[in-house]
Amino acid sequence: MKVKINGRSKDIRTVSYNEKLNQVCLIDQRLLPHKFALINTKNYIETAEAIKNMTVRGAPAIAATAAYGLAQGLCEFKGNDINKFRKHTDKVFQTLKNARPTAVDPINAMNRVLWWMNAGETVGELKSLAVLGSKLFADKSVEECKAIGVNGEKLIKDGMRILTHCNAGWLACVDIGTATAPMYEAHSKGVKFTVFCDETRPRLQGASLTAWELAQAKIPHYIIADNAAGYFMNRGEIDMVIVGSDRVIARTGEVINKIGTYTKAVLAHRHKIPFYVAIPFSSIDWNAKSSNEITIEERDPEEVLGVWGMVKKTASKKRQIIDEYAYVRVANPTTPARNPGFDITPPELVTGIITPAGIFKPGEIRNINKILKSA
Ligand code: MRU
Repeated sequence: MKVKINGRSKDIRTVSYNEKLNQVCLIDQRLLPHKFALINTKNYIETAEAIKNMTVRGAPAIAATAAYGLAQGLCEFKGNDINKFRKHTDKVFQTLKNARPTAVDPINAMNRVLWWMNAGETVGELKSLAVLGSKLFADKSVEECKAIGVNGEKLIKDGMRILTHCNAGWLACVDIGTATAPMYEAHSKGVKFTVFCDETRPRLQGASLTAWELAQAKIPHYIIADNAAGYFMNRGEIDMVIVGSDRVIARTGEVINKIGTYTKAVLAHRHKIPFYVAIPFSSIDWNAKSSNEITIEERDPEEVLGVWGMVKKTASKKRQIIDEYAYVRVANPTTPARNPGFDITPPELVTGIITPAGIFKPGEIRNINKILKSA
């Protein structure tokens, strides 16, 4: 996506891989919208840590990071002993998988890399195939987001007001985005619409990341408090909801996404507002019998008890005023918090799932391969 950095427009992906240095390059999303900075992880442990601490976040973005991290970790291996290499592969895979448990995308992405590796025999061949597989995964993810944009764009009409939750934009993907892909496509065709970004407590990905993306793209938008969506829907000021997902359970059509998504789906249903979920194929869980099997990440209570942001600080020597990223405690100091990162939206609340292959009912996802073959 094009980003303006120091007044200059630059094309940049959220996640990329430097094969020569064996480093994964990430936009540090913790600092946005205040500061644009890139981070290069030097080994797979650092890559896993970047997923865990949300330097990079969003299901398709952590998928590509895990795929590159797997290739990176395998390239770190010294020697030619194939049995030791296979054990090392398991260790790297598990470390990256455990960095964040709810999204299925990192698992699907790394399984894709392992699939490519089936064609190799020696350690050297397996390393090369892992690098190739990870790059192909990332490129395919971008192609899928483009197709989501083309398929979803038809839903956006002139004058519409669209609500989105969290950040399912290009920062949450390798590029383009899922929920925002139809918006970017419609905008490029001159369709005029306005986006309402839920601020998305506790980490405020809507207020910080989605708003920043839309501002860069010059798409009219507002940030609203999470609690305000019902008010706007009730007044007829929201025409459609589009969100992303971290895992769609193929067998049930359940949608797992950022905490607060379920609330918005219930509200949309009550007000007869179409509720769409946009996903690449990597977000489909083909195996789980239901969402009961999925670990919902419980994050640090500090996220609920306070906020991160830029504060003014006097730098010691020259007494200059500088901006510093800091945590401010808001809540009562002795009260604990619960902080589930995701919730589950049942299929009956979902109007359609926008995929790279078209728009489907949640119940059709389990048959998507058959539908595609017979088309
Ligand atoms: O905790 P995050 O910021 O990783 O959560 C992100 C979301 O919930 C997104 O909506 C989801 O990953 C889909 S991103 C295309």
